[in-house]
Amino acid sequence: MAHREAEHVELPIPNGWFAVAFSRDLRIGDVQPLHYFDQDLVLFRGRTGEARVLDAYCPHLGAHLGHGGRVMGDTVRCPFHGWQFEGGSGECAHIPYCDRIPKKARVRPWDVLEKNGMVFVWHHVEGKPPEWDFPVQPEIGHPDWSEPRTFDLEVPVHVQDMHENNNDPVHFQYVHGMVAPLPSEIEFAEDGRYYRIVSTSEQVTPFGTFEMSLIRDSWGIGLSAVSSAGIPDAGLLMYSSTTPIDAQNTHSRWLLTATNNLVDLAGEEFMKNITAGVRDDLTIWTHKVHRARPVFCEADEYLAMFRKWTRQFYSRPASEPAAD
Ligand code: FES
Ligand SMILES: [Fe+2]
Repeated sequence: MAHREAEHVELPIPNGWFAVAFSRDLRIGDVQPLHYFDQDLVLFRGRTGEARVLDAYCPHLGAHLGHGGRVMGDTVRCPFHGWQFEGGSGECAHIPYCDRIPKKARVRPWDVLEKNGMVFVWHHVEGKPPEWDFPVQPEIGHPDWSEPRTFDLEVPVHVQDMHENNNDPVHFQYVHGMVAPLPSEIEFAEDGRYYRIVSTSEQVTPFGTFEMSLIRDSWGIGLSAVSSAGIPDAGLLMYSSTTPIDAQNTHSRWLLTATNNLVDLAGEEFMKNITAGVRDDLTIWTHKVHRARPVFCEADEYLAMFRKWTRQFYSRPASEPAAD
């Protein structure tokens, strides 16, 4: 008998950098409630232009700063009694009706990085500071590349199971309708946080027939860039971040850009078809269980490597699977 609860092993929430917003959705003065990593947070952009993330609940009487809070300078003002909290330090900077500020009047600040059109926060189960970084993608915002299309999706699956797709060449055939898996090479960086998979094949394109590479880069569990290269002066980039809402749900954000010459020639339909491909996996993700010890066959080498690689991003191991 197969029961989802009995077959499923729950993975903890991993450590790393995760996107919490598209930059374009957060203007100066915006305050938004967030729920990620099974925690309540507030996101705002202060007058300095910096994106800020703090724990959500006010140390005074516990109002949620993201529901009715207001930006004042680089602080967020609590909607309940007007205490103001610094975006960078989380310290209370001002109580409008008291001169003395209690020492404990602070909320926890989160480390924030903004690049590649997204706002990222560092999540670490033990509260350790950021341990690694990830690069700027020069294509995003470059004048020769199209204004990025963005879309997002909430999926009831653990963030790792979503990311695992990248290392699963066979599924491209069955889920995404590719003719056959492409031969590919995997390369891990020395510091271990990053890896790249490159698949090469000859492809017929609107510009002619070329030896094309599909490059899949990953930084930690959740951040990835898929780029297509091989046509001189033309290219395509799909940049994505998958963020744990909690241990069972993931919010993924995608940003798609291509060189203007490619978009002009292939048209909007082409861009739409690419984004539609992401939805092919949805049914599988929504109904699958997580196997802590999958039965692998010899073609699953990259999947096995991926599972081993992911362990470094957890402070706690996964719960033991039920005996099978
Ligand atoms: S609850 Fe925030 S100021 Fe009172
Ligand atoms: Fe997929």
